[in-house]
Amino acid sequence: MSRVLLTGATGYIGSHTWLALLEAGHTVVGLDNFANSSPKVLDRLSQLAGQRVTFEEADVCDPLGLAQVLSRHRIDAAIHFAAYKAVGESVQQPLRYYRNNIGGLLNVVQALQDQGVFRLVFSSSATVYGQPETLPIPEDAPLATTNPYGSTKLIGEQLLAELERCDPRWQIARLRYFNPVGAHESGLIGEDPRGIPNNLMPYVCQVAVGTRAELQVYGGDYDTPDGTGVRDYIHVMDLAEGHVASMKHLLDGGGSHVVNLGTGQGHSVLEVVQAFEQASGRPVPYRIVDRRAGDVAACYADPSLARRLLGWAARRSLSAMCEDAWRWQSGHPRGYDG
Ligand code: WQD
Repeated sequence: MSRVLLTGATGYIGSHTWLALLEAGHTVVGLDNFANSSPKVLDRLSQLAGQRVTFEEADVCDPLGLAQVLSRHRIDAAIHFAAYKAVGESVQQPLRYYRNNIGGLLNVVQALQDQGVFRLVFSSSATVYGQPETLPIPEDAPLATTNPYGSTKLIGEQLLAELERCDPRWQIARLRYFNPVGAHESGLIGEDPRGIPNNLMPYVCQVAVGTRAELQVYGGDYDTPDGTGVRDYIHVMDLAEGHVASMKHLLDGGGSHVVNLGTGQGHSVLEVVQAFEQASGRPVPYRIVDRRAGDVAACYADPSLARRLLGWAARRSLSAMCEDAWRWQSGHPRGYDG
């Protein structure tokens, strides 16, 4: 198997993908600056993996630090997760998002090229589709963004697409995540947002565990079956396994690809609330309030290309997502550092 560098390795998606890569037999070097994650993840991953994980504390905005890490570890490929990801925060701090997300990506690509490494998986997002014109969303749907966070993902994709056109040594995967939720079934690692959660599932978890009073449902008058927003929730371990499949495709010489990582099925906010109450046995009180600026009514993937090209499909149900999220949250009411 191969040696893979993960940037943003102690984050939510990174930590779960780290475990999936180890379970698939890869050697992994994790890199993070703990800007949005806890060092405690390392002990949990070592416990789950049954081996001490290999980790380097570094910042993707530090080219020298990146070069030193890559000179210490001969790697075959990389997965770039490290990025800020809060839509609302990106509107307040656009330059910080451009610098970190686009500048960091360029530093990683430069450091890889300097070491003769040309296989990269890039963490992109369904946010690049903007307001979808058709549903389900195929990979060749029009691309547009409505906030600086989404722009950093779209610009990142465009830079990588041009790079591989200019230099065919590059083999790059661009993975467009829909809505990752849940946690590893052990309950030892999970989603641990700082401050007030922006996303639905961590907020629901915190209401159920009692650290928040009630969920505000952003809009009850959308053109959807129950009036609330519909999204394509995907279990984080399905997402992690999608990265393993993408990495295998690159390492086997399958070439560059752009794929959706979603289930293809949409669920409304109220369906998620109901599923979570059933999974946790806890009430999730909510109040329907005004729509959130920038939200779309519905967004869910056409997942057929990932199945055809990578032989991967999401397989975990919404109830499994809720059960696994609850196991993590109920064991960690205030996250890793609570
Ligand atoms: C889901 C649904 C809300 C919170 C965002 C980013 C995307 C990706 C995933 C990074 C919507 C509703 C939410 C709440 C609510 N992030 N909601 N009350 O907006 O689909 O996607 O996160 O890659 O890039 O755009 O996810 O979880 O914020 O919202 O009613 O307190 O839940 O209106 O319908 P979203 P979300």
